[in-house]
Amino acid sequence: MKIALITGVSKGLGESIAKLFLESGIHVLGISRNSNNRLVKIAQKNNVNYQHYPCDLGNISEIEKMVEKIQEDVRHYSPTLLYLINNAAVVEPIKQVTQIDNKELADHFQLNTIAPIILMNKMLQFSSESNNAFIGVNITSGAAERPIYGWSAYCSSKASINMYTKTAALEQLVLKTGHKIIAFNPGIMDTSMQQTIRSSSKESFIEIDKFKEYKEKKQLRDTDTVGGILIDILNDEASIENGKIYDVNEYF
Ligand SMILES: NC(=O)c1ccc[n+]([C@@H]2O[C@H](COP(=O)([O-])OP(=O)(O)OC[C@H]3O[C@@H](n4cnc5c(N)ncnc54)[C@H](OP(=O)(O)O)[C@@H]3O)[C@@H](O)[C@H]2O)c1
Repeated sequence: MKIALITGVSKGLGESIAKLFLESGIHVLGISRNSNNRLVKIAQKNNVNYQHYPCDLGNISEIEKMVEKIQEDVRHYSPTLLYLINNAAVVEPIKQVTQIDNKELADHFQLNTIAPIILMNKMLQFSSESNNAFIGVNITSGAAERPIYGWSAYCSSKASINMYTKTAALEQLVLKTGHKIIAFNPGIMDTSMQQTIRSSSKESFIEIDKFKEYKEKKQLRDTDTVGGILIDILNDEASIENGKIYDVNEYF
């Protein structure tokens, strides 16, 4: 039996990935602050389980409590394969570096870097102890490799998650666990994150016109299409390259 743990399932790419897993008969454990009734209905229709864990990934003690509960629940499934999709993230603060407040900076890194690393570390440890196969995916961004004016936090947190991916993958290779960790850059998608980007100011984000044009010219991809590409990569299990930063643009 396969199960998938996914963060940021209330909307956007996380919802699409959860939906596609459920439709392919995989049980889903979803994490986000808000619940998602659409996923409850899709699970019922496909005769699989969907369980929601309300959690603010910005809060370490909430994460620790939730991880204990999730591990207990996953044990009951005795999965042969466990997926972890670290998808939840924010783009803010969108500000030139001297304007960023310390607290908003710490909050950003807690959600975009520390929370996914904690979840990956804990589920890797769990999988080694439980003897189930494990595939971890960190959703990254092209911003990890390109400096963007006003996005210092986001570019840095996504670059950090890429290097974490490569390092954790290397360790698993040396330890011969068979566990694989990859990152996946989903490209530009029509989600609330793009709305946030378009509602920033030109002063803080000088590329704003280009991003408004993406929307106007319908260049933002829909999350079901992008999620489907990730599922195709995961389904070809033997071909998954441990430590690779996959880029959706290579599949179009
Ligand atoms: N959209 C793009 O163009 C684009 C481009 C490149 C990369 N990406 C990456 O793709 C991933 C998905 O982005 P998206 O566009 O689908 O984002 P989105 O529509 O804004 O959804 C973000 C998800 O993260 C969850 N989340 C946010 N803060 C949270 C918190 N404190 N605790 C728990 N969950 C939290 C939200 O749930 P709640 O609010 O219910 O908690 C929501 O489900 C992200 O990693 C993003 O960096 C997106």
